[in-house]
Amino acid sequence: MAASSEPQRRSVIIEGIELRLAQPDEMPVLSVGAESAKNQLRACWLVPSKSAPQEIPLSPRILGQPGVGKTTLAYTVAKEFSDEIYIFQCTMDTRPEDLLVTPVIGSGQVIRYHASPLTTAMLRGGVCILDEGNRMSEKSWASLAPLLDTRRYVESIIAGIKIKAHPNFRAAVTMNDDSSTYEIPEYILSRLQPQIKVGFPSAEEEKEIFRVNLPHSDEELLNVVSDYLGRCHSFELPVASRDGIHIIRYAERLMEKLAISAPEAIGQATTQIVGEEFALYLDPEFEPPQQQRISLADAEYLLTRFNPSGRSS
Ligand SMILES: Nc1ncnc2c1ncn2[C@@H]1O[C@H](COP(=O)(O)OP(=O)(O)OP(=O)(O)O)[C@@H](O)[C@H]1O
Ligand SMILES: [Mg+2]
Repeated sequence: MAASSEPQRRSVIIEGIELRLAQPDEMPVLSVGAESAKNQLRACWLVPSKSAPQEIPLSPRILGQPGVGKTTLAYTVAKEFSDEIYIFQCTMDTRPEDLLVTPVIGSGQVIRYHASPLTTAMLRGGVCILDEGNRMSEKSWASLAPLLDTRRYVESIIAGIKIKAHPNFRAAVTMNDDSSTYEIPEYILSRLQPQIKVGFPSAEEEKEIFRVNLPHSDEELLNVVSDYLGRCHSFELPVASRDGIHIIRYAERLMEKLAISAPEAIGQATTQIVGEEFALYLDPEFEPPQQQRISLADAEYLLTRFNPSGRSS
């Protein structure tokens, strides 16, 4: 395997085929807090010094609600392991060749092969974050099965080559709790272990998240919105740090443009961003209606009470 060091158009040659490499990704903000999840990810990617040479880093699944900071956390820990981080955005349209190697017709009708961010990370010994992996089809996941076990290679049908991962290559997959486009097959899930859960931050962490993302915002505004998010977390509403950041950004603009007060701007911004139902929790005195507060135990009881077989229909 020969590598060219030209920064703009890096390429490698494998089995006589030239692969153009992708550029690494940069994220503007590093993750604060979530130390427990970060340490779990560090542990996955650590190769114990006393281990046998065949020991390989684990490829975990990072799970949590949308906007809690999964991608930011994975990127931040990945930076401790490598300068080159590649983020691959998985979608329902991602095809195996998008994940591995894509053919591109160049000038003079010559076919050039472009390595994906994942393949580039494998070749460079970087870290690849497969973002929102639950959106990708089984067919695409199947092409990664050998990479995610001790074989550590992929086969590009399009380029007709086998690509082996560099020993320093590491990977993690982030997945949303919300909607999965496809069911990920069990044989893939069993390779994406362990599961690392990212939950809602503490009140102090939330404030710090706002500060690093919005360094020029008014502290009082950050306090009001982080208190609001704390209330949302206590009721387990699907309102995450990303929503808080959007609320603050939009409220600031509304105050400037419409010359309205901070509470008015926060009210409007919250309604437009998380919806009227969740904006009600801006009022610290607000109590959700009783029927919305059925606990899991109550729900299970009701299900068996009205469906004695114990199965939901
Ligand atoms: N712990 C954190 N530290 C710093 N910023 C954070 C943190 N958590 C969330 N954020 C900010 O919130 C936004 C959403 O974070 P991120 O994209 O990492 O969430 P996610 O869980 O990956 O969301 P999705 O499930 O939609 O992919 C980003 O702007 C990020 O900067
Ligand atoms: Mg994400």
